[in-house]
Amino acid sequence: MSAQRNILITGGAGFIGSHVVRRFVTKYPNYRIINLDALTYAGNLENLRDVEKASNYVFVKADICDAEALTKVFKGYALDGVVHLAAESHVDRSITDPLSFVRTNVFGTVTLLNAAREAWKGSMEGKRFYHVSTDEVYGSLHDDGLFLETTPYDPQSPYSASKAASDHFVRAYGNTYKLPFVLSNCSNNYGSHHFPEKLIPLMINNIRNNKPLPVYGKGENVRDWLWVEDHASAIDTIFHTGRNGETYNIGGHNEWKNIDLVHLLCGIMDRKLGRAEGESAKLITYVTDRAGHDLRYAIDAGKIERELGWKPSITFEVGLERTVDWYIANTEWLDHVTSGAYLHYYEAQYAR
Ligand code: NAD
Ligand code: DAU
Repeated sequence: MSAQRNILITGGAGFIGSHVVRRFVTKYPNYRIINLDALTYAGNLENLRDVEKASNYVFVKADICDAEALTKVFKGYALDGVVHLAAESHVDRSITDPLSFVRTNVFGTVTLLNAAREAWKGSMEGKRFYHVSTDEVYGSLHDDGLFLETTPYDPQSPYSASKAASDHFVRAYGNTYKLPFVLSNCSNNYGSHHFPEKLIPLMINNIRNNKPLPVYGKGENVRDWLWVEDHASAIDTIFHTGRNGETYNIGGHNEWKNIDLVHLLCGIMDRKLGRAEGESAKLITYVTDRAGHDLRYAIDAGKIERELGWKPSITFEVGLERTVDWYIANTEWLDHVTSGAYLHYYEAQYAR
């Protein structure tokens, strides 16, 4: 049985955060898990219905930019660990509204670092601040090469610039104030509870509704996809066994050109929905490219595999099948999150 601990997870009502909360609440009954989330458009407590009544789970609605609220949580729950996922996470939104990304990802992260530093100033022994980041901080690759932990930062979008800044602040607090930290940079996640502004759930939702499938540019950009529950297991591994002050890259060794991935999804959906082969692919529509669109991301996840023994547990074929099945079985969830504000976002984003 694991020791008793009080762990704060920020952004736990979002896509990846909800998988991390579920994993920690169920796997570590001795831990008290405090999920702090501002419930922005991307936060949804429906994602956590199956664990919300667990005796070791607490939800706190608060903003990571609110220093007073954070101090209260650190004191009230005697926190000894933080897994920080709260962020503005969508590149397209960062292009239309960069300041929201500076506010949450930079100012919010530094406010959280300050709260941890203040609460732990007596003794940093046994404390850990885990910052969850992205491979996008490394910039864009051409046809070959992989991102290593030593790859120089070269962020290209307001989103990745804000995440890069937050990573720098975490390392600076480690160096200056000796705050014990670990950091990870992960590739694109996919799986259940993914907000349908992102490629895979957006395509699944549009295919089921017979709506155009908007592929940016020529669809030649490449992403390295990892099943979200494998990201959660990597976070668990790093949080518990990662070396203090280290960075770990996490990825699926699973590169796909967007257009090939959309065709693959169309084929799976044709089969699941009983449509004729090739029917869904007729919905593919090439649209104006994303401004400053990064061509390719690909992670070398050798360090986490060698040092901590982590690797992805399932293949993309299995993960994608499971993901599609989840969305088909949870159309209510999709309908719910795509009503209201989503419609305005969608109109503005794709009307160009
Ligand atoms: P998401 O957008 O689905 O969820 C973000 C969560 O943070 C939401 O619940 C939202 O309500 C909350 N939040 C936003 N602003 C907040 C604030 N000011 N205070 C408190 N809570 C706030 O994001 P995600 O895709 O689950 O990503 C989680 C983290 O993982 C992010 O830090 C992201 O940069 C990183 N990441 C994501 C991916 C990916 O493929 N999605 C890959 C690598 C790293
Ligand atoms: O690499 C990790 C990052 O992956 C995370 O840090 C981000 O939080 C996450 O959003 C994701 O960023 P991307 O920009 O790669 O993901 P997105 O799903 O927005 O887009 C994936 C690819 O698909 C990208 O090349 C843009 C393209 N795309 C996206 C959308 C939404 C389209 O062609 N059409 C679309 O409608």
